[in-house]
Amino acid sequence: MIKKFLDLGLQPLANNYLINQKKLSIKNNELYKLEVFFDLKTKLVSISKKIPKNKMFNNKYPYKSSMSMTMTKSFKKLHKDIIKDFDPKLFLEIGSNDGALIKNFKKNKAICVEPCNNLAKITSKLGYKTYPNYWDRNLAKKIKKKYGNVDVVYAANTITHIADLENVFKSIFNVLSQNGILIIEDPSLLECLKKTSYDQFYNEHIYVFSAIAVKNILDKFNFELFDIQNLQTHGGSLRYFIKNKKNKLYKIKKTVTKQINKELKFGMNKINVYKKFSNSVLKSKFKLLKILKKIKNKNKTIVGYGATAKSTTVLNYCKIDNNFIDYFVDTTPDKSNKFMPGKNIKIYKYNQKLLNNVDYIFLGAWNFKKEIINKEKKFKKRGGKFISHVPKPHVF
Ligand code: TMP
Repeated sequence: MIKKFLDLGLQPLANNYLINQKKLSIKNNELYKLEVFFDLKTKLVSISKKIPKNKMFNNKYPYKSSMSMTMTKSFKKLHKDIIKDFDPKLFLEIGSNDGALIKNFKKNKAICVEPCNNLAKITSKLGYKTYPNYWDRNLAKKIKKKYGNVDVVYAANTITHIADLENVFKSIFNVLSQNGILIIEDPSLLECLKKTSYDQFYNEHIYVFSAIAVKNILDKFNFELFDIQNLQTHGGSLRYFIKNKKNKLYKIKKTVTKQINKELKFGMNKINVYKKFSNSVLKSKFKLLKILKKIKNKNKTIVGYGATAKSTTVLNYCKIDNNFIDYFVDTTPDKSNKFMPGKNIKIYKYNQKLLNNVDYIFLGAWNFKKEIINKEKKFKKRGGKFISHVPKPHVF
């Protein structure tokens, strides 16, 4: 049985940056109700509305993993670790985006799958065999036929974007070699609850995983976790290492029970903790609006930094438009000169000069706080201030 615990109101598709200002409507399927549920049995947290995948992941997908140094560095280190610990003869990445990880691998030892054609073209051009398809059973079969089994399958911020988890896991397990492993990484639900980062919920994030839920899902397929790493990326993520229960090559590390116990201690197997989270989300909204109103009453300027998909949730849930935020800046070329979905705030290609007369920066990309503050020392030095809604709305 699933129980609703959070209502984030009407939302547009988060990554659907608009070319022109436009009032979106429910009638035209441009807005949907974003509600979040907890499954009492599997402990899985998911949004209710499932948008057709080709509406979200197509040849216009704007997000590029390589846009941040933090992600690039994290992937470089991961490549080293994978070679050191598993030395795969064949590595497969599902959801390779613009190649931030795969480009660290040798071309004859790595293949990738990326349904957004604009991104798939990038890794193809780099010389990596790239399937411009959605991951499913047929593709898994095709890959197995051509290459044989895969030793390491990896997917970052991808599995939580696919509605049919049974299909996705079954087809991955089918393609793995006998001692092959699956590594997935996704935002941590525990961190999301602790930080009241409700903006982890948007149409693409169909699920936000806890280790408890991942364990319950894997049990169904005779697979198990053998290691979990805590990462700083995306506001706190978990990297799960998964193997067949028959695979005795890898010992189950203490990190698995440690993470699960941490989550149980927090109460993540019970609905109450999610109801409490929902109250905190409401408080967060009022506090953020209070801060923004106070700043605007003093006639100060606020600019958004990082036109993230997460910001779409915040802007639309809190009803923040260009009365509060003049514009957003973002380094991603495909977001430039477009408008934040639903709230019509213009996005400009990042240029430090755009911050010259700005009093406050709202951190849309709060998950890259360190990297951004480091880059904007000049802004801070001349008295500029930052606003973040995470973990609680505050100015610093
Ligand atoms: P994400 O939080 O979904 O990964 O998106 C981060 C966004 O922030 C992405 O559009 C790139 C943008 N960004 C900047 O514009 N400047 C920066 O310095 C960083 C780190 C990210």
